[in-house]
Amino acid sequence: MKDIYSGLLSGEKKLAVIGLGYVGLPIALAFAEKLSVIGFDINRERIDMMKNNIDPSCELDSSEFEGKDISFTADLEDLKEAHFFVVAVPTPVDDHKVPDLGPVLSASTTVGKVLKQGDYVVYESTVYPGCTEEDCLPILEGISGLKMGEDFKLGYSPERINPGDKKHTIKNIIKVVSGSDAEALDNVAKVYELIIDAGVHRASTIKVAEAAKIIENTQRDLNIALMNELSVIFDKMGINTYDVLEAAGTKWNFLRFYPGLVGGHCIGVDPYYLTYKSTELGYRPEVILSGRRINDNMSLYVAKRAIQLMIQADKQLKESRVLMMGITFKENVSDIRNSKVVDLVKELHEFSINVDIVDPYASSEELTHEYGLSLTPASEVRDDYDCVILAVNHKEYAQLGENEFEQMTSERPVIIDIKGILKDRINKFTYWSL
Ligand SMILES: NC(=O)c1ccc[n+]([C@@H]2O[C@H](COP(=O)([O-])OP(=O)(O)OC[C@H]3O[C@@H](n4cnc5c(N)ncnc54)[C@H](O)[C@@H]3O)[C@@H](O)[C@H]2O)c1
Repeated sequence: MKDIYSGLLSGEKKLAVIGLGYVGLPIALAFAEKLSVIGFDINRERIDMMKNNIDPSCELDSSEFEGKDISFTADLEDLKEAHFFVVAVPTPVDDHKVPDLGPVLSASTTVGKVLKQGDYVVYESTVYPGCTEEDCLPILEGISGLKMGEDFKLGYSPERINPGDKKHTIKNIIKVVSGSDAEALDNVAKVYELIIDAGVHRASTIKVAEAAKIIENTQRDLNIALMNELSVIFDKMGINTYDVLEAAGTKWNFLRFYPGLVGGHCIGVDPYYLTYKSTELGYRPEVILSGRRINDNMSLYVAKRAIQLMIQADKQLKESRVLMMGITFKENVSDIRNSKVVDLVKELHEFSINVDIVDPYASSEELTHEYGLSLTPASEVRDDYDCVILAVNHKEYAQLGENEFEQMTSERPVIIDIKGILKDRINKFTYWSL
């Protein structure tokens, strides 16, 4: 029997990707340029879309499906043909910020049912160090009756893609790979090298690779938390944070981070995986959790400052109207999951403030389904808002200036610019940024 790498190359063996979301679909399509691929997802609606060359996550163009050796399925039976499994299912936290391993354990059960002698299983989902070997592996072994090392091999290769970022794509970002032994590492590395032009970094162990991914996002989260804290301090001092950052940024080793709302399913979530495991091991992280607390509270802080400024501008809060520009978790994407702008809208609602929401990327149906909110159609956007909050720096908002705000607002409006993109452009109205 051919070894896994030559079996994949010759087309005798297939590679399957389990979970075709923001991470799974691009990786499946990249592999499908070189290998025979099965794309598996439990969501039949999404599978039907992908069969019609539509990316349900709206990141990829239909042309990216063309000429690829890939079949999409939601049937376990079809997975039996695969020998190299890549698992890319979500790893969220629950309402108590505790890791929800449900999808990754359920995907392990799925793979366990079709696992065969000589197969490889590589996890891509972001998890805490130890999860692949301590939580997923027992399921693979238990369900399949096979033994890791003797019968099949294990790997972990974290994903680094950044939704909406057309510059850093799968192929041009170095990919960290790891394996359960030297042979596994070598084969996992060779398989990924087929699609990663930038090359792979061979981590010494699976735990090291898991830890590397989680600290990349934890570091970002903490750096943003520091900027957010500085922004609160500078606001009290009457100093513009962006002016300070511009000045400090002239030093060669000053890191470029900016204040903002930290939403989405990576930076605001992954650190909780690390803090959960650390706490379980008897050490409660202080720095990481403080950063999380600061970032999680920024929506309430922005709401508080908007309300204070509206009161100072003699607005009657109860009848006041706010226009929220942008509702997605970050710029230029349609993803609204864990959007912190939603927390801001809800806080304003608590003060009986009317909030209209516009966003060039978000879907109103999804917004209603997820949060009970909806987008205001363009024809119903008013010309008398008391406050406009520019919440997300979508590229469509880059050129906004005083004239545009004048057309949307009532007398003496308050303009809140969370990302500081209007700096130095608004002089006529009350202007505030983080
Ligand atoms: N989105 C990102 O930018 C990004 C970047 C790096 C790493 N990650 C990590 O990658 C993983 C996947 O994230 P995502 O954003 O692609 O998620 P996603 O929500 O976009 O997609 C997940 C897909 O998995 C499917 N799925 C869920 N449970 C399943 C199961 N048991 N079996 C088969 N399919 C299942 C869903 O139907 C969905 O299509 C997470 O661990 C995430 O933290 C995400």
